[in-house]
Amino acid sequence: MSHRKEPDPENAQRDFEDFVHQRFSGSFPNFSSAVQPPPPRRDPREEDATNWDWEFPYKPKDVKRFLDRSIMKQDEAKRALAIAICDHYNQVKAVYNGTDAGTEEYTKQNILLLGPSGVGKTYLIRKIAELIGVPFVKADATKFSETGYVGANVEDLVRELVSQARGDLRKAECGLIYLDEADKLASRQRSPGRDVNGRGVQFGLLRLMEETEIDLRSGHDLQSQLQTIMDFQRGKLGRGKISTKHILFIVSGAFTGLEDIILRRIGRGALGFQTDHTRIPDVNGPIFDQATSEDFVTFGFEPEFIGRLPVRVACHPLSKDDLLSIMLNSEGSILRQYQKSFRAYDIDLRFSADALDRIASLAHAEKTGARGLMTICEKILRPFKFELPSTMIRDLEVTSEMVTDPQGFLERLLLDYENTLH
Ligand SMILES: Nc1ncnc2c1ncn2[C@@H]1O[C@H](COP(=O)(O)OP(=O)(O)OP(=O)(O)O)[C@@H](O)[C@H]1O
Ligand SMILES: [Mg+2]
Repeated sequence: MSHRKEPDPENAQRDFEDFVHQRFSGSFPNFSSAVQPPPPRRDPREEDATNWDWEFPYKPKDVKRFLDRSIMKQDEAKRALAIAICDHYNQVKAVYNGTDAGTEEYTKQNILLLGPSGVGKTYLIRKIAELIGVPFVKADATKFSETGYVGANVEDLVRELVSQARGDLRKAECGLIYLDEADKLASRQRSPGRDVNGRGVQFGLLRLMEETEIDLRSGHDLQSQLQTIMDFQRGKLGRGKISTKHILFIVSGAFTGLEDIILRRIGRGALGFQTDHTRIPDVNGPIFDQATSEDFVTFGFEPEFIGRLPVRVACHPLSKDDLLSIMLNSEGSILRQYQKSFRAYDIDLRFSADALDRIASLAHAEKTGARGLMTICEKILRPFKFELPSTMIRDLEVTSEMVTDPQGFLERLLLDYENTLH
């Protein structure tokens, strides 16, 4: 019995490359990177570079104050990030404004951001990018592979910055790249069943994190290759490179298991016997502040990789009170989002104080940080969002009773409403 061979994307890609090489005598740019959206058609540096007015008027306290409006708690992280961001962009500003030739020694302050899920890591960086107005690219480290055959190639991150900057290379060269789930790159933590060579990706990244030039045009996807062929025929191939010298990298992850490594080191070094975990009540919190490069190497990172991330910032778990404060005080509060979506149907949504307290408790029990707030609010409010817009009810107060039994509360509310109609 004959079996039809499953098509193998990796082989297909290689066949395609061989075909192009044979057909065009290998005279095309390298074919070493991965699938990605088509790059800008022209090299903007040569043809239409915009005059991007570089302004960076902020001091660390300004950045912290700005972050305080949206992100609750994480004060130490906000302070450390504010300092690192100001240092970096003051340096970039000096180079771009011509007051510094950029020849002096400057070590880029790439950042390693640690902390459990849903406590504001991505939110912090998103807000920082918004404040300084630089292009921002966020990606999960798990989607990359060393060769680019299986997943995307790390260089695509830099090309993505160029699309975020709408082709303005000067702007893209000052961008922020945020790499989430970086802990999955640790060599002992390979995800089963996938050819993710975390170590290879780490080496790919460390080249970017320092200083290198990346081709704007990725040679690996069909669209890009056809575009290259057409541009080649028209004699239109520009220089098309972008430097990563001033691109700031922020690498982030939950680093589950790092606490044990730190505790073991502290236990062995300081006391000479096993540390009692129970004596450290907030294991995910302050303990992360004590992580050293050695701990990250034990965790599975290459020393060269971790060495290029000199700024270490830890975000801490959020308490029930922090969750309450997020709902009440954050500019991005989920309550405002819900009020907005109900207002679209002319419904005025309010929350009683004890309802908020109850929501905070339930969300805290989810153990997913502030993401728990969304889970709980969704559970409570979804049936109301479905039913109320088709009624004349224009007012809804979320009470603790409603939080406890949303369905029962809705049924009673609709029954009362029906009765008023008859
Ligand atoms: N400290 C905080 N203050 C205010 N809102 C927060 C805070 N932490 C999280 N949030 C809210 O929760 C959402 C999810 O947080 P965020 O994306 O920053 O999580 P994260 O720390 O990056 O988690 P993960 O490791 O899962 O990516 C944010 O969009 C924000 O609305
Ligand atoms: Mg995140």
